[in-house]
Amino acid sequence: MRLLAMLLAARAARALRPALRPPRAPPQAWRRFAATQEPPPKETEIIPIELEDEMADSFMKYALSTILGRALPDARDGLKPVHRRILFAMRELKLEPSSQYRKCARVVGEVLGKFHPHGDSSVYEALVRMAQDFVMSERLVDGHGNFGSVDGDPPAAMRYTESRLTKFAASALLNSSDLGQGRAGASLNGGIGVRFSENFDASEYEPDVLPARLPVLLVNGAQGIAVGMATNIPPHNLGEVCDAALGLAKAAKNNEVFDDDALLRALPAPDFPTGGLIMGTTGVARAYATGSGSVLVRARTSIEKLRSGRTAIVATELPYLVSKADLLEKTAEAVNNKKLQGIRDLRDESGRAGMRVVFELKRDAHPETVLANLFKSTRLQASFPANLVAVDCIRDENGVEDPDRKAPVRLTLRSALERWMRFRFDCVRRRASYEEARAAARLHIVEGLVLAQAAADEVVAAVRKSASPEDARNLLMNGGVPGLKALSETQARAVLALTLSRLTSLAANELKDEEADLTQELARLRNELENDSAVYDRICGELEDCKKRFGGPRRSEIVEEDSGEVTEEDTTPNERSAILALAGNYLKRTSLKEFAAQARGGVGRRAAPLAVEHLATCRDHDTLLCITDAGVAYGVRAFKVPQASRAARGSPLSRVLPVDADRSIAGLLPVSQQQLEGDQDYVVLVTKQGLVKRTPLSAYRDMTSRGKIAIRLNEGDAVGWAALCTLGDSLVVATAKGMLLKYDVDAVRETARATMGVKALKLRDDDELATARVVAPDKDHVLVLTAAGYGKRVDVEAVRARSRATMGVQAIKFKKEGDVLVDVRGVADDDEVLVVTSGGTIARVAANTIAAQSRTAKGVSVQKSTAKDPCVGISLVPGDLAGVVADE
Ligand SMILES: *[C@@H]1O[C@H](CO)[C@@H](O)[C@H](O)[C@H]1NC(C)=O
Ligand SMILES: *[C@@H]1O[C@H](CO)[C@@H](O)[C@H](O)[C@H]1NC(C)=O
Repeated sequence: MRLLAMLLAARAARALRPALRPPRAPPQAWRRFAATQEPPPKETEIIPIELEDEMADSFMKYALSTILGRALPDARDGLKPVHRRILFAMRELKLEPSSQYRKCARVVGEVLGKFHPHGDSSVYEALVRMAQDFVMSERLVDGHGNFGSVDGDPPAAMRYTESRLTKFAASALLNSSDLGQGRAGASLNGGIGVRFSENFDASEYEPDVLPARLPVLLVNGAQGIAVGMATNIPPHNLGEVCDAALGLAKAAKNNEVFDDDALLRALPAPDFPTGGLIMGTTGVARAYATGSGSVLVRARTSIEKLRSGRTAIVATELPYLVSKADLLEKTAEAVNNKKLQGIRDLRDESGRAGMRVVFELKRDAHPETVLANLFKSTRLQASFPANLVAVDCIRDENGVEDPDRKAPVRLTLRSALERWMRFRFDCVRRRASYEEARAAARLHIVEGLVLAQAAADEVVAAVRKSASPEDARNLLMNGGVPGLKALSETQARAVLALTLSRLTSLAANELKDEEADLTQELARLRNELENDSAVYDRICGELEDCKKRFGGPRRSEIVEEDSGEVTEEDTTPNERSAILALAGNYLKRTSLKEFAAQARGGVGRRAAPLAVEHLATCRDHDTLLCITDAGVAYGVRAFKVPQASRAARGSPLSRVLPVDADRSIAGLLPVSQQQLEGDQDYVVLVTKQGLVKRTPLSAYRDMTSRGKIAIRLNEGDAVGWAALCTLGDSLVVATAKGMLLKYDVDAVRETARATMGVKALKLRDDDELATARVVAPDKDHVLVLTAAGYGKRVDVEAVRARSRATMGVQAIKFKKEGDVLVDVRGVADDDEVLVVTSGGTIARVAANTIAAQSRTAKGVSVQKSTAKDPCVGISLVPGDLAGVVADE
């Protein structure tokens, strides 16, 4: 919801930009403005000014204050001013990780009163956000009470909720050794690692930036909209961010290059606190290289069998910033509007064990397809438009930073890390210089004390003789004590403040130890001040410490191969269908479930209002090789053939494939992707004039809908039949007069696509080729069908293989005068066939219900047919389908 609102606002900002942008102000005008803020004129005078100029100036002032003062995070500590002020105020209130929780209202009051004179709700909102573990990779505020939920529920009012700092915030952002001790540190107006500035009414000091020990900007990300610009930085895995920063620091220390590959290996992609799957890293890589790019995130889902026996899709992790309640609502809406099919019920079963959104499916739904549709049309898959923009200090031409002049910059992954590194380097140097001064001062005193202790008796005697403390001090400073060299004033004061207990030998040893420690510490700090390597070592040490204490495993899984794009294939169930080519060049796809099993001899259901010319059964994801009588082959995915009911005509072929209107289809061959990629299958083509040709299916591999030549034809010839075969299959060709010839497909030499065929059989002058079929070796009978609807099965043994280009044997005698053989098919006992009439009636018949007879027998009635509506062909129903259809 929040993301959506931001996107809308961003769009609005973009739309408004041309109108709002003052005509004379170039995009960088505010930069110049920032550089030339002049004090207002002292005396009242009227300054003539162009309206346009005034508008430009005023608007820029407003834009600048929004951009720098509110909406965008700082590139150094990754915080917007309001976040920084909340955290600092909480530290000032001593809301440490180990202390008691305090009311959020107290914190908000403190922030409003001291640092951030804006609305209390915006401060509380920011505070709540820092406490939400579904927003923050690493929470900065430890909340107690209702801080809202991933459902988009609002938090309780600030008078009810309590908070304190998390360990992470206390050590990575607010460590006292970087920031200084409480008010004392603040009043230094220098801080230790970072600079402090006056607050809005100059009554307090606040840090300009928090001394982040790791790139918090990348760890927790940021979202914000300013005037005319927005930022959207995804959160990352703390361990990975540390690794990337460590790699960079070590390379900087050794003057080496930390190249992009190494950087991406350390930090390959965002990591969302809500987990999910990151689909591909192309968009991520673009975002990292240019500062803007899109990251596709998918919910983590699984397909489960419920106790009710139904299947359900269960989502356990949602994309970042997607509200669960919102998702459920939108999905329910889409289901009700029939935009999403196959979902019966949706429930939110989330509880203590974690998130669990259940989409219960209808019995006939395909889980993968429903899931793909959910990804496509709901926010179960959402893209995160990364836009790495942050505020940074402007540097002059010598690279020196001006802490008072800031500008928004577009960051890359590298520049974000480098920006932080430069900042941290300065922090460590500043801290070293502060600590060095402090240690040197202390060492000076300790040295004095050690000297005084060595001559304790003389010092005591001299002090006793002195008239006043001033006298004693002067004595010590002038070297007036025997055996003790002259001390400085500080040392003298410290000596005089010694208690008697400090004169014990134990205390003396303690002082000596302290002196040694301080000397060592000073050497280290002085090295840190002069030696860059030492600073990088410190940075690395701190990073490793943070990684060890706060790092955890990655929550979002990176899915490399998948682009996450939901294709038509994904959203189409791989159902079994019949593809029908109808007279007049119509093509349609009908679910096989529409053809019920039917007893032998019954009137079949009409499959189409027009004569059926071809019928092929396939799965919807198969590729359909469509071969025209002109010998051109086209490839089309079966699901691209428009679906139509049994009674519908379908679509004109020319709308599916670029086939000339006067051409007809000679063969529809469904092939699976596996077949297409293998080398087992061949395409057999037989022409009307009786030429046959066998070509490997691989020659059709990169078939497109543009068409390729499948055979060279003689003048006046046309392709009549097309089929797939493998070695071991037989080719059966049969004539109208009932002659049948069978031989191994091997007998037809394998040739390339665009060549001529060879002679398939010897034809009598008064006869013509009626059909050509491939018969697999497991088919023990040949089913023969006549136009009048008579059929029989003939044992394959009775039609033994003969040589190619011979005459063959008689396969049927005709009951009726003028009847002709129309089709033959190889069948096994448990096969089912579809018997098709020219009028479009289809009867579904079990093969073993058709009588097995001798070659010369006349057959039995298989399908009622008339002279007007003769039988035209037989099609096999795949064996494994029988059960599916029988259920109905
Ligand atoms: C603050 O920094 C110091 C020095 O790096 C470290 O020893 C200490 O543990 C840090 N404090 C916290 C609360 O992490
Ligand atoms: C710089 O510091 C490192 C330790 O951090 C040390 O090994 C190296 O010798 C120092 N270099 C110089 C020039 O002092």
